Amino acid sequence: MRSFWSRKDALALLFALGTALLCNPGTLPAQGAQKLMAIPLPPMGWSSWNAFSNTVDSRVVMAQAKAMVSNGMAKAGYKYINIDEGWWLGARDADGNIVVEAKAWPALAAGEKAGDMANIVRYIHGLGLKAGIYTDAGRDGCSTVGPDLGPSYPNTGSEGHYEQDFLQFAKWGFDYVKVDWCGGDKENLDPAVQYAEIARAISRAEAITGHRLYYSICNWGARSPWTWAPGIGNVAADIWRTGGDIVAPIVAGTKNGDRKAELKEVFREFDSGNHPPAQHTGYYNDLDMMVAGMQGLTEAENRVHMSLWAMSGSPLIAGADLTRLSGEALATLTNPEVIAIDQDALGLQAMKVAEAGKGLEVWAKPLGRGGERAVALVNRTETVARITANWSDLGLRPNASATVKDVWAGKDLGSFDSSYSATVPAGDVVLLVIRGREGKRTNYEISRRGQDGATVQKGEPVVFKNVASRTRVAPVVIAYTNSGKELRYADLRVNGQVPTRIAFPPTPGSAVGVVWIEAELDREGAKNVLSFSAASELGPSIQSILVQ
Ligand code: GAL
Repeated sequence: MRSFWSRKDALALLFALGTALLCNPGTLPAQGAQKLMAIPLPPMGWSSWNAFSNTVDSRVVMAQAKAMVSNGMAKAGYKYINIDEGWWLGARDADGNIVVEAKAWPALAAGEKAGDMANIVRYIHGLGLKAGIYTDAGRDGCSTVGPDLGPSYPNTGSEGHYEQDFLQFAKWGFDYVKVDWCGGDKENLDPAVQYAEIARAISRAEAITGHRLYYSICNWGARSPWTWAPGIGNVAADIWRTGGDIVAPIVAGTKNGDRKAELKEVFREFDSGNHPPAQHTGYYNDLDMMVAGMQGLTEAENRVHMSLWAMSGSPLIAGADLTRLSGEALATLTNPEVIAIDQDALGLQAMKVAEAGKGLEVWAKPLGRGGERAVALVNRTETVARITANWSDLGLRPNASATVKDVWAGKDLGSFDSSYSATVPAGDVVLLVIRGREGKRTNYEISRRGQDGATVQKGEPVVFKNVASRTRVAPVVIAYTNSGKELRYADLRVNGQVPTRIAFPPTPGSAVGVVWIEAELDREGAKNVLSFSAASELGPSIQSILVQ
């Protein structure tokens, strides 16, 4: 139902709400051609930690980078080669510059100097890949807390050197930086403060070098990073770890060589990493680097793991030794349709939409093509079970037919009318793509607007009141314009919840841009309030929201 306001009514209500703009429900779509805006997708790559611990060096990294290209992973979308803890033993020169061991990081080409990290970056770039590096937000790094292999090295953190270190990483040519929290934790620092300071150091390094570092925050979910990490320091893209390590490193031929990865730990990280309202517009919950292909998991368990990470839209950072992957594990890691679910253009996280009994779950993730959902039928029990996905639970029109594809089987299963049931083995997942018709959604327009909608500015939030809730966490499509050349930001607060920072890419010409989020509408009935406020001087102009 669309309601119309007389000028007098509107003024009276505007007065009652101070400067907040009023919005009302309607059935008409926002005007103008709507365009789904491209956002940064979750990073894909490899990290040295799981398979090499602190034995990482130039030789290891070169072999892994070569393998990523020759085994087809690069073609499948993996691109970062991330050097984790152990590359630096904490030494600095008199000017505070990081000094690395020349033997571990030798010259790799004519004219290069040993002990220069730019050498390995050049090598990685030469293969068409991107390079990642690692540090700690505190003074000490993780080796001082619990050295995994080898001695403990103090001072392997960047505290006191943020400007210098992140500039150095950018100058070396790195494209990605993971920032751990062992030192920060030891000193009881506030992660929201430290990681914001680092985000600013990264921006300054970019301004100086023109080279951006992708920002990977790793504080294991301490103090709920999903509440402060999206868009921290107005970064365009970042990820934050939501929990601990799935497995301690398994390094072949060492005292740690007998460790085993376990599926229950994979499920634990999947569960603790589920924060859909924080994941949107280029910001991702990071469930940890993957253990698929490592000792301890069966091939079926590797597929479960990959299914869960793809449903979550988590970064896909392989942790296995890429030179020793089985053919089946490689096929699992590179399955194009599973990767496409992870890398979907909406960048959202799956939500649990039904639970038929304890451990029998239906998870759904909206995909960029209208009416399409990735669906995981998850059986956590110890017996085989039948699990049903109902269209109504997926937000699809209940009585319209929808096509179902079994993703791992690569098989179209045909059309079904209101639900689909599958037999799911114990401890397994059936991964589907279901394509039907969108269910009921309500459009809320701002009632008083300029041509471009209502601009979010300092002291002038754009507020949608009386938003109805059909499901507790609902997809919300935000139509907006940003006529600038840079991203604009707004903090969205839903009801009394902690706000989340949303990035709004520039909208071309007269197009109306669209970004998707998932909001926790925790008030029953039409009582939810969504308020967009400025995160910098000037935010986007909001036109409407479409709520499922
Ligand atoms: C942990 C982190 C791991 C790895 C390790 C290195 O804190 O979660 O991913 O980086 O440190 O010591």
